Amino acid sequence: MRYGCDGSLPNPLLRVVGRVWPEELLAMTALASDAPTTTSDAPSTLAGLVSPLTEAEFLGLLRRRELAYQPGASGDRYASLLGWSALRCMIESGNYPSKRPDDIRVTKDSHMVPSERWTTDGKVDIAKLAEFLAAGFSVVIVHLEEHVPALAAVCDEIRMRTLEGSFVGAVVTSGAGAGAFKVHYDPEDLVILQVEGTKRWQIFGPPVSNPVRRMSKQSPPDGTEPIFDEVLEPGDLLFVPGGNWHRCESGLSTSVHLGIFFLPPTGWHAASQLTRQFLSEELFRTPLTRLDGTIGLEAVEEEIKSRLVERIRDLKLNEFIAEWSKVAY
Ligand SMILES: [Fe+2]
Repeated sequence: MRYGCDGSLPNPLLRVVGRVWPEELLAMTALASDAPTTTSDAPSTLAGLVSPLTEAEFLGLLRRRELAYQPGASGDRYASLLGWSALRCMIESGNYPSKRPDDIRVTKDSHMVPSERWTTDGKVDIAKLAEFLAAGFSVVIVHLEEHVPALAAVCDEIRMRTLEGSFVGAVVTSGAGAGAFKVHYDPEDLVILQVEGTKRWQIFGPPVSNPVRRMSKQSPPDGTEPIFDEVLEPGDLLFVPGGNWHRCESGLSTSVHLGIFFLPPTGWHAASQLTRQFLSEELFRTPLTRLDGTIGLEAVEEEIKSRLVERIRDLKLNEFIAEWSKVAY
């Protein structure tokens, strides 16, 4: 299936995977790959990252959650953003994400290695990381935008353009067959930029529809053929909408890909925020089993229902969305 955006002719460099569930597997449209030359300067805009797709074309894919693959003819187009050499320097100088416990992870087949094994005196030890990489483990680092200005600029632009949350992660692997995770899906939409080395991506359908983190556990498709199976080369872009089951394998050399995460707000997020706000009211914190007898459970129930309705009526989604990108990460 071939798509154009906004009625325009389809981009001849893009491969979009059309969804035709449940009748058959997704069919990929294979198109030309003679992409124009790009500069080696670090792209710090959304348009620069997704080129030769236009920003409007990309935002259309994002809105429709369409899996898309954009081979790049210029292998070094993302190299100046953040390669393994630059990441090593950042780690050696102590300039790396560490605000959250899982900002850096060492993993293999979805199992995490305790941080004590790759840190020394509480600091990430690059020599130990290199040993794990050589043994087929993957290093995952998220929230790199807090340390890399070009990535911060991209995330700021995404927040402004889409009103969605955005952050950047990197996955580093070394050696054939290394896989950071088993078949899984991410609830966030992801733009994958292959920076260096190669990585085989396999995507399995059907996707989980409109996933949200913390929703009930889903089972991966069993024994199905992948709907996408490509080895990403440096300069390639892959858009993996949230909910697509996938697994990756690195090639023979060090492989680095960046993932730009998009976190859209949903009604559930709005309702959750509302629920959290109730904690500031004693009415919702009073133990229902310890009422003093002067007030009955039925009266409390009426009071709670009335307050819930009142707060729900006050909900304004436009105000919620306007604040979302500042808090979503
Ligand atoms: Fe993933």
